Amino acid sequence: MPAQTWWKKGIVYQIYPRSFQDSNGDGVGDLKGIATRLDYVHELGVDAIWISPIYASPMKDFGYDVSDYCGIHPLFGTIEDFDDLIREAHGRDLKVILDFVPNHTSDQHPWFVESRSSRTNPKRDWYLWRDAKPDGSVPNNWVSNFGGSAWTWDEATGQFYYHAFLVEQPDLNWRNPQVREAMHDVLRFWLDRGVDGFRVDVIWHLIKDAQFRDNPPNPAWHAGRPEIDSLLQVYSTDQPEVHDVIAGMRSVLDAYPERVLIGEIYLPTERLVTYYGKDLSGADLPFNFQLIQTAWNARAIAKLVDEYDAAIPVGGWPNWVLGNHDQPRIAARIGAAQARVAAMLLLTLRGTPTMYYGDEIGLARVEIPPERVQDPWEKNEPGLGFNRDPERTPMQWDGSAHAGFSTVEPWLPLAGDHASCNVAALGGEPASILSLYRRLIVLRREMPALSIGDYVPVSTEGALFAYRRKQGGQEVTVLLNLGSESMTASVPECGPGARIVLSTFLDRDEPAGDELRLRPNEGVLVVNG
Ligand code: GLC
Repeated sequence: MPAQTWWKKGIVYQIYPRSFQDSNGDGVGDLKGIATRLDYVHELGVDAIWISPIYASPMKDFGYDVSDYCGIHPLFGTIEDFDDLIREAHGRDLKVILDFVPNHTSDQHPWFVESRSSRTNPKRDWYLWRDAKPDGSVPNNWVSNFGGSAWTWDEATGQFYYHAFLVEQPDLNWRNPQVREAMHDVLRFWLDRGVDGFRVDVIWHLIKDAQFRDNPPNPAWHAGRPEIDSLLQVYSTDQPEVHDVIAGMRSVLDAYPERVLIGEIYLPTERLVTYYGKDLSGADLPFNFQLIQTAWNARAIAKLVDEYDAAIPVGGWPNWVLGNHDQPRIAARIGAAQARVAAMLLLTLRGTPTMYYGDEIGLARVEIPPERVQDPWEKNEPGLGFNRDPERTPMQWDGSAHAGFSTVEPWLPLAGDHASCNVAALGGEPASILSLYRRLIVLRREMPALSIGDYVPVSTEGALFAYRRKQGGQEVTVLLNLGSESMTASVPECGPGARIVLSTFLDRDEPAGDELRLRPNEGVLVVNG
């Protein structure tokens, strides 16, 4: 029986702070804005908010380039606003998880300014400086995640520095104990202010090969794919020593009760699960992005769910994600009809679900006119479809001109249908996707089988994916039609008193019978008799 800590039973809700609520009329969301929307978040029924970076930053990568880890960017407000937000959240029993960006700083961070000031500066070794090759070329073939070489030449000191992302995001040297200590102090700074955990940015990047060997080419790469995929990241990421670093962070959190450590990791299952760490000394929740990456069909999803569930180490806890600020919106990827099935899947699988703001109103792809592009990745590798702006657009609260998000034109455009796709409109519609999310969350909270129960595969036939969740005497069967044709599903072992308690269309509450008709794109929950 796992201990029922909040982050196992609970649901995490990601807020992209630039786009949740603007309180001061500058077109960009802020902390006070988030505070005014906490009632909505609380009523939605989630347990924690994770806020993407709010730190002081030149905003080259929208806050993932931090220039002061203990300061709030004035766009978002002040440290007092932050303390207020924590108090308001905790007053509603909501936990607050912060983004922590330890792999790289901004090039404007005082540590880097010092580091680049001379080769003998005490902070020189806090970053990754390397000599040019004898012919003057870059130290190795590593590529930036946003395209181009990952090495930038520093004229004044005559060396290259490494940056896995933008030129303005130099990577820290986590082999240096002083860096670890400084970053542990940052964690304590926020933990002491009451933060309930961290989502750690690109945690699998923290340690690089000690010899900086060339990455091998990726034979599967082809034009149109990001340049970063042209090489296999064998030496630049996922090094064995990274687990010590994570255990170090873990031990900082362990000095406080019930804090959660979430790691952002894009790796295949067998590598991903190593991030639970030896004897669970690693991340509590290594983010599992497989639902984002999979082909959307019953066979593929059933396979990945079964394999993932089986791969979780003893005592480890699974988790699921459908979208985030770096990935196309789920409704854009699989369509509005399947987005409802996806909601049922996310909220009935075994493991902590992380929701992405706006998915609950079915926000889809928002068109970004070329002159309004903000994302540095799109600017670096334009036109290839890597723009992350479409999934970062403002939350749509009501049918007013700026959707209740702001009093002025927001930093990114709203969806064309924002007059109908908004919280106020959908909240009042009994069969809307928002009503579906609310209902699913209520059921997950009410039924331990759904939140903490075992996962038991039932069947995968054609477009049907069926599984069962079990806890004590409680059993819930989940039947998902991942296709656009109706089907008849046989539901063995549900018992004579079995009832359909929810359809993704929100119009069924009836005995289940032995055979069950599913409409196109319909999911149902059956409580076994
Ligand atoms: C992570 C963030 C992404 C950011 C990158 C560099 O992947 O989620 O938004 O651009 O790290 O910090």
